[in-house]
Amino acid sequence: MTKIIDGNELSKQIKSEIKERINVLKDKGLIPGLGVVLVGDDPASHVYVRMKEKDCEEVGIYTETKRLPKDTPQQEIIDIVDSFNSDEKFHGILVQHPLPGHMDEVEVFDRILPAKDVDGFHPFNVGKLLIGDNTFVACTPYGVMEMLTRSGYSPEGKHAVIVGRSTIVGKPLAALLVQKDKHANATVTICHSRTKDLGEITRTADILIAAIGSPRFIKADMVRDGAVVIDVGVNRIDDPSRKSGYRLVGDVDYEAVLDKVEAITPVPGGVGPMTRTMLLNNTTLSAENSLK
Ligand SMILES: NC(=O)c1ccc[n+]([C@@H]2O[C@H](COP(=O)([O-])OP(=O)(O)OC[C@H]3O[C@@H](n4cnc5c(N)ncnc54)[C@H](OP(=O)(O)O)[C@@H]3O)[C@@H](O)[C@H]2O)c1
Repeated sequence: MTKIIDGNELSKQIKSEIKERINVLKDKGLIPGLGVVLVGDDPASHVYVRMKEKDCEEVGIYTETKRLPKDTPQQEIIDIVDSFNSDEKFHGILVQHPLPGHMDEVEVFDRILPAKDVDGFHPFNVGKLLIGDNTFVACTPYGVMEMLTRSGYSPEGKHAVIVGRSTIVGKPLAALLVQKDKHANATVTICHSRTKDLGEITRTADILIAAIGSPRFIKADMVRDGAVVIDVGVNRIDDPSRKSGYRLVGDVDYEAVLDKVEAITPVPGGVGPMTRTMLLNNTTLSAENSLK
């Protein structure tokens, strides 16, 4: 029987742990706070930010969101980030990606103080992650690691193959999996669009992670029998039977691989909720750090 790794269920567990940590902070007079910047009118970004606000409310994190029109000058965004940086109410800062095209996203993200960089995108934190220091870990890779360990699929000694080398998913996930740590210690291969004979490589994976952005790209013949499959992809495909006219699918051909794998994450309900939960974790961690 294939195990379905349920991201909603795991998130529920982690959120209850976070609530307990927040209660401890509240007893000490501290409420974790998250400052959010949302620029433009991208519908998906608005949905994501609303979900993140709701998550924060659920666990007891204070949030304040600055919603700005897409033609806002970059300097104005930087000024807001600076004001969040210097305001003790905010332990974490989130600038929703993507920013409108006229902005230099790297410049804006790098303005966030590393101590409040709960998305884990600042080069300082990325560097610390690589050398294995305690730091804020980008939420999606962190969520994937939690899914593996909490479901009993330790990566130790396993061959983990990641398809996708983005700076927000593939690369930091490789850095985590390869760490000398009992929850990591994997042998890691990263694949990308220039990889030759992709299927030859993915078929050697004990743990296969797809972060491509291409609907149902990973077919059954690319997956080894008994592998553990983590599907990071979120893709909209047309579905006239739905009121919305679309539905979400992952980067893995879920139905086709389901019977041959040991475990798999669904889309939706897999990595997505875990990503959101790790943002709550990082914001709480930042508030805890502020007391040290
Ligand atoms: N669930 C979540 O919380 C969450 C969070 C983040 C992202 N996502 C989803 O995860 C997916 C990936 O996101 P991303 O931001 O990492 O995407 P991205 O920046 O576009 O990176 C995609 C990666 O896939 C590789 N790739 C593309 N086509 C390929 C092919 N034919 N063969 C092998 N590799 C190929 C690219 O290779 P090159 O580097 O050579 O171009 C690139 O490294 C998207 O569906 C996104 O929506 C989900």
